[in-house]
Amino acid sequence: MRISVVGTGYLGATHAACMAELGHEVVGLDADPAKVALLSRGELPFWEPGLDDVLQRALATGRLAFTADPADLADATLHFLCVGTPQRADSPAADLAQVNAAVDSLLPHLGHGRVLVGKSTVPVGTAASIADRVAPTGAHVAWNPEFLREGHAVEDTLRPDRLVFGVRDAADEALLREAYAPIIATGVPVLVTDFATAELVKVSANAFLATKISFINAMAEVCEATGGDIVTLSAALGMDPRIGPQFLRAGLGFGGGCLPKDIRAFMARAGELGVDEALMFLRDIDDINLRRRQHTVDLAVSALNGSPAGRTVAVWGAAFKPESDDVRDSPALHVAQALHDAGARVVVHDPRAMDNAQRLFPSLEYAPSALAAADGADVLLLLTEWREYVDADPAEAWRRMRHAVVIDARNALDTESWRSAGWTYRALGRPAS
Ligand code: UDX
Repeated sequence: MRISVVGTGYLGATHAACMAELGHEVVGLDADPAKVALLSRGELPFWEPGLDDVLQRALATGRLAFTADPADLADATLHFLCVGTPQRADSPAADLAQVNAAVDSLLPHLGHGRVLVGKSTVPVGTAASIADRVAPTGAHVAWNPEFLREGHAVEDTLRPDRLVFGVRDAADEALLREAYAPIIATGVPVLVTDFATAELVKVSANAFLATKISFINAMAEVCEATGGDIVTLSAALGMDPRIGPQFLRAGLGFGGGCLPKDIRAFMARAGELGVDEALMFLRDIDDINLRRRQHTVDLAVSALNGSPAGRTVAVWGAAFKPESDDVRDSPALHVAQALHDAGARVVVHDPRAMDNAQRLFPSLEYAPSALAAADGADVLLLLTEWREYVDADPAEAWRRMRHAVVIDARNALDTESWRSAGWTYRALGRPAS
């Protein structure tokens, strides 16, 4: 099939390369010519494990191309909309500027038999309003939410848990089934539904995941007040198959370009729909999440005997999670900046996200290695659980520090080996000793 993909961020670049991998002729459109040039050379503007291989393989077949000119998309039957929907600067709602601009740029090239397929996470009702806008061209709209996780984008795209097709026309469903035929042939379930349900599946999935994380972090707060241990509590809860172990890792909480802004946009949309009470609990989910960041700052300040000014804080991790260079709403950088603002000298290391972090947080210092970040520090904060940090030798790190206090804000380190190497070990939701 001839396919276009509008927007080449984490979602769009992955989708374009994977669709070409499935055998389709794909053109990826991005308004940024520098990004187009990079992708056309087989280079990624971000870090995503395994995606560079798929991209280079697809480019070599000649089935994948990138452009900044919407006219190059005119031959495509399916146009996948993969642009970002960040939080608005002036409210918690989603900013649909990129979605609207993408639809505008496609309008002159749409016609009968063409389908605009939304993958971006949008407020419920967006698909219907886009359908109204494109109706005069004769084209249709479908909604096909994407559930990919950064760090696992290729795997999640080629081997998804499920495919959701929000359609108004059986012919559009047939086209989507054709596009995803090799994936469907492996037994991946397809749910065919209306626009609203398709849009809601995505936001409610993210709301549920955020709820699970904040639930366990709320229990961590209770553990802190009672001497309980959140790691054991979480393990015991996760063994109940009705609960399950995933997304029950207590710690610094969720960040990134999706969960935080998606729950806020969902609440904002519920308000517009007059069902704000139904999602009122998401306010608590957001608050619990942000409290963990403040609690980590407080723990660090207390490790510095209440006076961060002039003291050195080593920070391991800047990305919002491991295996990503994404620093959007990163809990790690939130904590690092707060300690800097409190007067500490903050030295950050991250295996992949240093450039992005440095651009957004230029007042923090950046070290070339994890051990270099620890040099002469008064406290070490593990804020993103990269394998490299989890596997680090605590004895070697100990020798670099002025005061060997570690705050394991992801409950990821081996407590015993750090303690026996001489460290004062503190974690979130766990007893102090
Ligand atoms: C998320 C959804 O998982 C994905 O389905 C959707 O398409 C996009 O949003 P992503 O933002 O890539 O994906 O990250 P995810 O793996 O969900 O992690 C989100 C945040 O939660 C990270 O900051 C992570 O550190 C944190 N997290 C995750 C926890 O604090 N505890 C957990 O148990 C799991």
